[in-house]
Amino acid sequence: MDVTIFGSGYVGLVTGVCLAEVGNRVLCIDVDPAKIALLNSGGVPIYEPGLDELIKQNREAGRLTFSTDPEEGVRHGLFQFIAVGTPPDEDGSADLQYVLAVARSIGEHMDSYRILVNKSTVPVGTADKVAAAVREAQSARDVAVEFDVVSNPEFLKEGAAIDDFMRPDRIIVGTDNPRTGELLRALYAPFNRNHDRVMVMDVRSAELTKYAANAMLATKISFMNELSNIAEAVGADIEKVRVGIGSDPRIGYQFIYPGCGYGGSCFPKDVRALERTARSLGYDPELLHAVEAVNFRQKDLLFKKISEYFKGDLAGRTIAVWGLSFKPNTDDMREASSRVLIESLWAAGAKVRAFDPVAMPETNRIYGERTDMVLADDAMSALDGADALAVLTEWSQFRSPDFRTIKDKLKAGVIFDGRNIFDPGQISAAGLHYVSIGRAP
Ligand code: UGA
Repeated sequence: MDVTIFGSGYVGLVTGVCLAEVGNRVLCIDVDPAKIALLNSGGVPIYEPGLDELIKQNREAGRLTFSTDPEEGVRHGLFQFIAVGTPPDEDGSADLQYVLAVARSIGEHMDSYRILVNKSTVPVGTADKVAAAVREAQSARDVAVEFDVVSNPEFLKEGAAIDDFMRPDRIIVGTDNPRTGELLRALYAPFNRNHDRVMVMDVRSAELTKYAANAMLATKISFMNELSNIAEAVGADIEKVRVGIGSDPRIGYQFIYPGCGYGGSCFPKDVRALERTARSLGYDPELLHAVEAVNFRQKDLLFKKISEYFKGDLAGRTIAVWGLSFKPNTDDMREASSRVLIESLWAAGAKVRAFDPVAMPETNRIYGERTDMVLADDAMSALDGADALAVLTEWSQFRSPDFRTIKDKLKAGVIFDGRNIFDPGQISAAGLHYVSIGRAP
């Protein structure tokens, strides 16, 4: 089948390459000429494990092409995926200008039936706005060509995106036209594996499903973070509590890891956007509000613990930071907890020596050259001359370090673990102090 993808960002590229991989002819369109030139010369603008190899193979097989020309895009595909950004507005709601610009462009150029497939995370009701934008563009040129708008939210996790797309838990298709539902079923049939993963429902339910999933996951995390603070207060160990409750299959082990807060481009934005949607309709979403508030507090927790440990005397100290990305296997630092800590340390007059396996170029891009931050060559050299170590991202390479070397290097001999990746017993055996989340020292 012929597929066009508007937006060669994270979601668009992964969707495009995976649909090409199962045999479709995919054309990716982006307004950024530099990005398209890079892709056409074999480069990949984002870091995602496995993506570069798949792009290479599918380009060579002639199934995956890139262009900046929207007209060519509209001509190419029966399916017109919209996978452009929806950055948050100042008030937290999703900014739809890029989505609607694509819709208008499709309306301007289409001359036969097209299916517009919304992949971007967009508020409930957006499909109607997309349809209105197409109709408006069509009527400006005095045509009325049939089309449908489908909501098909994506559930990819950064760092595991290819696998998530190729082996999905579910594929949500929101359409009010049964015939379109069947066409989407056919497009997604190669991803069904043992049983049918495609769930066809009405447009609005599909749109809400995406927010509901992310809000539920964020709620699990904030719940555990709240509980971790209670555990600390009562002298319990949240890690034991986690294992204890996770064994109940109704609760489950996933997404109940306490830590220094959730980040990334999805949870914070989507929880806020859903809260805002509810408010705009006159409903006060108390739980969503609390999920966000708990996360905000949690992101500040490590700084509070460091500051308390050093009795507020942080000026002139150096803190080593392991992990800058918002989670492992990505260089993405959007809403990363590391940024909250680093900026608070700077404000308190401390210096930072940081290491991350892939996010250091991104750190440089965000902060530029600074005298109060050194990006170290490796994890251990980040500790040179440092008073303490703070762990912000649970990269697997940080999990079993030589604690004796750490002890020798750190002036104050203390580790602040924002992801609870270490065993307190091992650390104290090495003569280090250990401050973690939800585990009384
Ligand atoms: C999230 C969802 O997991 C995906 O299903 C969804 O498709 C995606 O958002 C999206 O809307 O596009 P992602 O933001 O890539 O994916 O990252 P997650 O793996 O979900 O992690 C989010 C944050 O939660 C990270 O900062 C992580 O450290 C934190 N987290 C996760 C915890 O603090 N505890 C946990 O138990 C799990």
